[in-house]
Amino acid sequence: MTILNDHPILVAVVVLLFSYVVRVIYNTVQMRRFMRDKPGPPHHPIFGHLQAMGEISQALPKRVHPHVFAYHLQKKYNLGQVFYLDLTPVSDAMIINLSPEAGQDIAQNSGLHKHPKVGKFLDPLLGEGNMVTSDGAQWKKWRSVFNPGFALQHLMTQVPLIVDCTNIYVQNLEKQVVKGEVFRLEDEATKVTIDIIGKVVCDFEFKTLTADSLFLDYMRKALSWMPDTQSFNPFHIYNPIRPLMLRYYKWRLDQFIGSILDERFSTRSTSEPKTRRKAGIDLALESWFKENAGQDVDSKTATMDPEFRKYAINQLNTLVFAGHDTTASTICYAYYLLGKNPSALFKIRAELDSIFGPGVNASSQLVSDPYLINKCEYVLATVKETLRMFGPASTARIGRRDYFIRDPDTGTMFPTDDLLVWTPSSSMGRLPNLWPEPDKFNPDRFMPDNADKVVPNAWRPFEKGPRNCIGQELAMLELKIMLALTIREFDICGAFDELKELEDDGSLWTKDSSFQTGPQQCYGDPAYQVLLAAAKPREGMPVRITKRAMR
Ligand code: HEM
Ligand SMILES: *[C@@H]1O[C@H](CO)[C@@H](O)[C@H](O)[C@H]1NC(C)=O
Repeated sequence: MTILNDHPILVAVVVLLFSYVVRVIYNTVQMRRFMRDKPGPPHHPIFGHLQAMGEISQALPKRVHPHVFAYHLQKKYNLGQVFYLDLTPVSDAMIINLSPEAGQDIAQNSGLHKHPKVGKFLDPLLGEGNMVTSDGAQWKKWRSVFNPGFALQHLMTQVPLIVDCTNIYVQNLEKQVVKGEVFRLEDEATKVTIDIIGKVVCDFEFKTLTADSLFLDYMRKALSWMPDTQSFNPFHIYNPIRPLMLRYYKWRLDQFIGSILDERFSTRSTSEPKTRRKAGIDLALESWFKENAGQDVDSKTATMDPEFRKYAINQLNTLVFAGHDTTASTICYAYYLLGKNPSALFKIRAELDSIFGPGVNASSQLVSDPYLINKCEYVLATVKETLRMFGPASTARIGRRDYFIRDPDTGTMFPTDDLLVWTPSSSMGRLPNLWPEPDKFNPDRFMPDNADKVVPNAWRPFEKGPRNCIGQELAMLELKIMLALTIREFDICGAFDELKELEDDGSLWTKDSSFQTGPQQCYGDPAYQVLLAAAKPREGMPVRITKRAMR
């Protein structure tokens, strides 16, 4: 005992550690008791569902996005639409929902808040109070500030700039055609989606398509320091350098967006007619001027309070991030799936030929008549089908004592108290009871003639209800335009059997070679999604591209 008497700090550490261990054990025992008789995989009195989970993850690629686990658990253990997963103390205890009906109730009526884990994961990148992970008044305020900027009517006025950016992206793809090598399509897709969202949200030319971009560099670096998977490797998760590097790059991103905001603030003319300007940045500033009405509202002399400025920067950053990453991943999968499915590819090209004319570049027609894009039903169906199979995001909420999930099969009401409540929509997109031949890419499912066969609320890649995706109309518009301007021009094929040909660009994809061992397919497909903030295509979607002769 003398050692301890002489070292009060050591005593403190031992006491802390001990109480921590006791708490973990206590919580785990409580949870095991609660989960014992709940529907779910075989439950072990000591290990809970950790064994079952371990077996599932061993059969899947190491880096695969965890949102596919729900599908695989349900299938392997023949579970119902709602089941529990007890992963304490390694991860969270959760209730997983694969029912469209219950999903709708959670999204529309529950009022459940975002799970703190999502904030813990995303806040270092998106900042405090950001619109994706915040709740209550803070969220509501900013959501209503930005809503007008994402209304469809306003977005249609943005079609010309979307077309412009896409044309530059086409030129970049042409350079890849000339090079003739396997490349990571996600790189080019990220650039075009950043340039578009940068213009829509900040009214600023990010120019990532045409020049080396600091913003893009910081964004990629920040991403590369995000935790890679819901890894079971504690050294990976608790790497002490990680939060520091992430904080550094977040700071660089803030500086970048901050200077755009300051510039805009100082040049904002108060005499402007109650503006038509709906770029996110203008809407944010407008809200500042409203809040400060009556004070010195002349921007020439006024200064933005640091508190407002910080939150505004976080929101703009969030919009730029959420507005490019998911969309870039989706366009990659659209090309990949079309490349693998000649009959769908034939149909989408035939539709574009019939609307814009065979061999006619659609860009000038879209600029003069943006609403032509709404005629492209098969293009829309293609995007929807892509999102069914490879949706990049889902919603994770924190359960409440008074909120129960109703299993539509049995009518049982399942408690959610304090659990992670998860509706992994892309697992839902693969369920054979909802989607006949779920692993088959078939855009016809979403053609108007088949509308009555789609199970209500089963397609929810943007989620629904008050916390649905603010950018969904923009995303759909962008994705349709990108396809309309490229899919007749190029042949693009996945090249997962040529991964070795890829350049080692040292950033997102090549860090951990252990990812290359073990199973390399999910849903029978090598193009599985990995967890990198949202879900990105594995290895940045390696493809080969050739130019088609336009007929
Ligand atoms: C294919 C593209 C996209 C998909 C699949 C997608 C999906 C989603 C999903 C599932 C959510 C709910 C997340 C949750 O509950 O935690 C969400 C929220 C959000 N998305 Fe998207 N998104 C896409 C594109 C965009 C775009 C283009 C923007 C443009 C700004 C955007 C901005 C946001 C924001 C700000 C939220 C939080 C909204 C709120 O909570 O009020 N997303 N998105
Ligand atoms: C279509 O036309 C635009 C400009 O009119 C051009 O920038 C773009 O590269 C063209 N697309 C193709 C595939 O030739």
